[in-house]
Amino acid sequence: MPTASKATSDLKSPAAGNPAPAAAEKMERLDRLANLGVLSAGLAHEIKNGMVAIQTFVDLLLEKNQDAELGYIVQHELKRINAIVSQMLQIAAPGPASFQTVHIHQVLDHSLRLLRPPISAKMITVEKNYRADADTVRGDDAQLQQTFMNLLLNAVEAMGPNGTLTLGTEISAGDDGARTLQIQIQDTGTGIAPENVARLFEPFFTTKKNGTGLGLAICHRIIHGHQGTIRAQSQAGKSTTFSISLPAAAG
Ligand SMILES: Nc1ncnc2c1ncn2[C@@H]1O[C@H](COP(=O)(O)OP(=O)(O)O)[C@@H](O)[C@H]1O
Ligand SMILES: [Mg+2]
Repeated sequence: MPTASKATSDLKSPAAGNPAPAAAEKMERLDRLANLGVLSAGLAHEIKNGMVAIQTFVDLLLEKNQDAELGYIVQHELKRINAIVSQMLQIAAPGPASFQTVHIHQVLDHSLRLLRPPISAKMITVEKNYRADADTVRGDDAQLQQTFMNLLLNAVEAMGPNGTLTLGTEISAGDDGARTLQIQIQDTGTGIAPENVARLFEPFFTTKKNGTGLGLAICHRIIHGHQGTIRAQSQAGKSTTFSISLPAAAG
C-alpha cells in the first residue's frame, strides 16, 4: 500500500528567515543573472553551429557505412546534446513573448492532439473537466502550449498502460476580487518521491535515464513570465498533479 506522503512545491518564495536583500543588491543580482543569460545564449549558439556540422558528417558517414555501430552511438548522443542545448537556449534567451488574448481550453486541446500518438500507444484515458466559464488569459500562446506539452509529456512518461490523464480548469476569485484561472494536469503515474518534490523546477534535475531536466525549469520560467504560479503535488507511487494559476483576462 502506498504511503500517502503528500508533498508540495511551488518555488515561490525565498527560504523563510532570509532577510530581504536591499533593492540595490537585488538589482545587482538581476544584472548578473541577465549577463549570465546573454553569455550562455551566445555559448549555446556556438555549440549548436558546431553540432550542425558534426551531425551532418556523422549522418553522411552512416549512410556510407551502415554497420558502423559506434556511429549510431555518436548520432544518438548528438541528438541528446542538441536537445539539451536547444532547451538551454530557451531558458537563457527565451525570445520576446508576444502577448495576446489566449483561449486556454483551445491550447490544452491542441497540446492533447499533438500528443495523441504516445497517449494512444499507452492506452491512456483522457478526462477533461473544463469548468472555467471564461478561459481567456493575456499570454503568449506558443509559450503556454510549450508549458502544457512539457507537463502532459511528463505525465504520459510517468504512467504505465491504462493510466488516466485528467485536465481541469476553473475560475477562482481572490480576496481582492481578482479572478484567476486555475489549470490542473493530473496523472495516475509513479508519483514523485517526497525528497524530490522541492527540486522539480531546478534546471537539470531529472530522474530519467535520457532526461534533460529542463522541461519543468522552462515551464516555471514561462508561467512566472505570465505573472502566474506553478506548483506540484504528489502522492508517491500513486499520482501527481501540476497546478497552474494565471490571472484571468479582464472582461
Ligand atoms: N508527472 C510526473 N510524474 C512523476 N514525476 C514527474 C512528473 N513530472 C516531472 N516529474 C519528475 O521531475 C523530473 C524533471 O522533469 P523535467 O524538468 O520535465 O525533466 P525530464 O522530463 O527531462 O526529466 C523528472 O525527471 C521526474 O522525476
Ligand atoms: Mg520532461
